[in-house]
Amino acid sequence: MRTRPLKVALLGCGVVGSEVTRILTTQADDLAARIGAPIELAGIAVRRPHKVREGVPAELLTTDATALVKRGDLDVVVEVIGGIEPVRTLITTAFEHGASVVSANKALLAADGASLHAKAAEHGVDLYYEAAVAGAIPLIRPLRESLAGDKVNRVLGIVNGTTNFILDKMESTGAGYSEALDEATALGYAEADPTADVEGFDAAAKAAILAGIAFHTRVTIDDVHREGLTEVTAADIASAKKMGCTVKMLAICERSADGRSVTARVHPAMIPLSHPLASVREAYNAVFVEAEAAGRLMFYGPGAGGAPTASAVLGDLVAACRNKLAATTGAGESAYTQLPVSPMGDVVTRYHISLDVADKPGVLAQVAMVFAEHDVSIDTVRQQGKNQGSGDEVAVEQGAGGRRAGEASLVVVTHRASDAALSATVSSLRKLDTVRGVASIMRVEGE
Ligand code: HSE
Repeated sequence: MRTRPLKVALLGCGVVGSEVTRILTTQADDLAARIGAPIELAGIAVRRPHKVREGVPAELLTTDATALVKRGDLDVVVEVIGGIEPVRTLITTAFEHGASVVSANKALLAADGASLHAKAAEHGVDLYYEAAVAGAIPLIRPLRESLAGDKVNRVLGIVNGTTNFILDKMESTGAGYSEALDEATALGYAEADPTADVEGFDAAAKAAILAGIAFHTRVTIDDVHREGLTEVTAADIASAKKMGCTVKMLAICERSADGRSVTARVHPAMIPLSHPLASVREAYNAVFVEAEAAGRLMFYGPGAGGAPTASAVLGDLVAACRNKLAATTGAGESAYTQLPVSPMGDVVTRYHISLDVADKPGVLAQVAMVFAEHDVSIDTVRQQGKNQGSGDEVAVEQGAGGRRAGEASLVVVTHRASDAALSATVSSLRKLDTVRGVASIMRVEGE
């Protein structure tokens, strides 16, 4: 083993950074044996140096992150600060001074991954970011390296633990969205400002990273269609149950049928209870990958938290250190396909549409006609009378007319149709006098 240590600096020492420091210290001998040289923690950049951090050597703390990354003798810089700036500048500076970078920064990678990869390649160093997507779950390296000889056609995942916790609570207790969010906040899953999670920004950044790697192209967060889960109601969850489905917040990245483009989207969707993702409970993450030769693979585990995220960071750190020792670099960006990202209108899937309609003869036929006019084929129709008070339900055959006076709820599930055709259908439905409202539209995935 080489006795001269590899020098590592840490940018940020919050929950993840502290855990990285703890493991670096307590597992130093094992890490050295696995790498072939010891690691020396050369400095830790923090904003508040006087904050008490158990197990973190105070003499290593500095508030001058720029000076730290400019030292010139660092082998690897670990970035666990998050956000776009000043982190982008710090990472770029680290590259310019010969250091590889391990980052957990999904927002930065999803916004500007291409230029960071180019900069790393220019300086002959690594850029690794396993921790940016789904915490401890090995996903980036399997997609980039283990599946490098295969053709991935689809990535379907639960990549946000907070929203999975909320939907799981709604499903298991019958709670509404706000009540479930309150519980997620009380238990520390949801942040004080839950916007990034519940509006899908966090999952969209992860989807962009996954899509780019899976399809060897470039996808940024701006390419990802995003819908949050704030509109999901207890009625949606109950309706999903009636169909043998559950509602999950999904990140879906797909290669188009003709293979000439890709799509990436994040939204709540119904999936059958028989799908492996349906059984992902609480705040866990899971990603389902469909590849031509490998078939269907599922990656499952904790998607957040200090120790799980530190596990992914440490894995990258070991890889970057091994490469430094061998004076080489690992696999960099692969974006050779240059496949464009198609708009949401081109996505083809199934839909569950819940309508409030006048309950009188001919309405069902009228509604069915609108679907036909837009070439959207109906799979099933379910009607539930609203004026009965008992919530009783009448299953009607496709094309049969409602017989009740007053109002009814009509649930239509379609066969596969384009999102553009579905949107046009819904616009036309809204114009019918007999359609009093479109209560919800939800995609049905995973079939
Ligand atoms: N807030 C994220 C989640 C974890 O709830 O999964 C960090 O990406």
